[in-house]
Amino acid sequence: MKHTRIKDLLNTTEYGHRVTVKGWVKTFRNNQFIAINDGSTLGNLQAVIDFDQTDEMLLKRLTTGAAIAVTGPLVESLGKGQRVEIKVESLEILGDSDPERFPLQPKKHSLEFLREIAHLRFRTNTFNAVFKVRNALSFAVHQFFYERGFVYMHTPIITGSDAEGAGEMFKVTTLDFDNTPRKEDGSVNYKEDFFGKPTNLTVSGQLEGELAAMALGNIYTFGPTFRAENSNTTRHLAEFWMIEPEMAFYDLEDNMDLAEELLKYIIRFALDHCPDEIEFLKNRLLEEEKSKPQNERSEMDLVAKLHFCLDHEFERLTYSEAIEILRRSKPNQKKQFKYPIEDWGADLQSEHERYLVEKHFKKPVVLTDYPAAIKAFYMRQNEPDEQGRRTVRAMDILFPGIGEMVGGSQREERLSRLQQRMEEMDIPAKELDWYLDTRRFGTAPHAGFGLGFERLVQFVTGMGNIRDVIPFPRTPNNAEF
Ligand code: 4AD
Ligand code: MG
Repeated sequence: MKHTRIKDLLNTTEYGHRVTVKGWVKTFRNNQFIAINDGSTLGNLQAVIDFDQTDEMLLKRLTTGAAIAVTGPLVESLGKGQRVEIKVESLEILGDSDPERFPLQPKKHSLEFLREIAHLRFRTNTFNAVFKVRNALSFAVHQFFYERGFVYMHTPIITGSDAEGAGEMFKVTTLDFDNTPRKEDGSVNYKEDFFGKPTNLTVSGQLEGELAAMALGNIYTFGPTFRAENSNTTRHLAEFWMIEPEMAFYDLEDNMDLAEELLKYIIRFALDHCPDEIEFLKNRLLEEEKSKPQNERSEMDLVAKLHFCLDHEFERLTYSEAIEILRRSKPNQKKQFKYPIEDWGADLQSEHERYLVEKHFKKPVVLTDYPAAIKAFYMRQNEPDEQGRRTVRAMDILFPGIGEMVGGSQREERLSRLQQRMEEMDIPAKELDWYLDTRRFGTAPHAGFGLGFERLVQFVTGMGNIRDVIPFPRTPNNAEF
């Protein structure tokens, strides 16, 4: 007999017909009531067993975590908490779960503990909800771009370039470290390496994306990217997924409009398509916050926060305006910032971003026109202002509780200006000659941005640690599983 998904059964209003359900035992109480979950929904199906008629050995094997199949009529439930239940006529144990060794107790486990048992982590309600939302968000990204005629471009994972020029790359090599081929001057001879040259895991698909945009018009990438930055924070992963649209003939305004539209579209999609999961995560967060002091609890619950974000326009201002606000802010005057804001040109720390977003504007903020010195080489250069300050057409979108969600810019399309900037920043022009070609043959204004997918999943699920929104987190000193 074909089995039916529990999600479909819990919504049914028809009773009496026989069904088969396959899933894992969540709990078994009073030798009578089995709560079964098959992953299709957060809800469990109750199966009622007649223990007088059931072999005692079989009853003993109904332990938490065991995989089972049950068949019987679906009946209206008299118990509290569920509409339907299944009256078990036949029961089969598909896979035992040794109660002596099963690591999950029927109680709340810390997220840290669950990270260590990758397999059973997926069986918890929290991670069921998180990964369902992650799935929906990823689908929403593709739908958004498909509806708008963008081409999904698969840029390479292994590259020979450093797209951000920040030197935070993982090397890719087949050379033997214990017997490395060397040139006469003692340096590594990469000619003998797999690709005949040094290669690394990509930090961004942007540069390759720009090539495609300068031919196809509007493209986006959505894939894993890798950063060997030694940041042990709740916002950084060594392997994360990034969405990078790139649009020919877009300026910075167009770029910001698209980013805001995309973010709102995805958040709306999650509210429309994952109401049960988001409701569950909202309550999880409320529960978690109970242990925090009053002043650290959020003013809005998760659902209110998501709606608030949809209902308000993001605040747009320049870096220079932001610096003025920060300079005059209470925490700066009272020397409460760890990094006090004194001069124009300082890179913003997360305490500054949080102040702007959570205290000052209380909504997502888009900062533009950053100092050239703290941004990547490919960003379009503004003319120096009256005080001779050099800025670039960058934009970062900052979100409450997250900080930087999006980083993007209008690109420097003028070949000589780009080359000059690369020289200033020690970016090897020879290796990027293929990229500079886009500025040689029909260069045009264009723009794009990168959206950190896990940070978006964090915002929508309310999870505090980025490690808890990706199935297998990779961070410094951790590449388990
Ligand atoms: O600001 P970033 O470094 O920008 C780029 O990579 C550009 N090439 C994007 C573009 O214009 N096409 O990274 C973009 C976003 C950040 O805003 C952040 O959300 C996320 O990627 N991000 C990370 N997420 C998790 N872990 C990390 N280590 C991240 N580094 C960046
Ligand atoms: Mg950035």
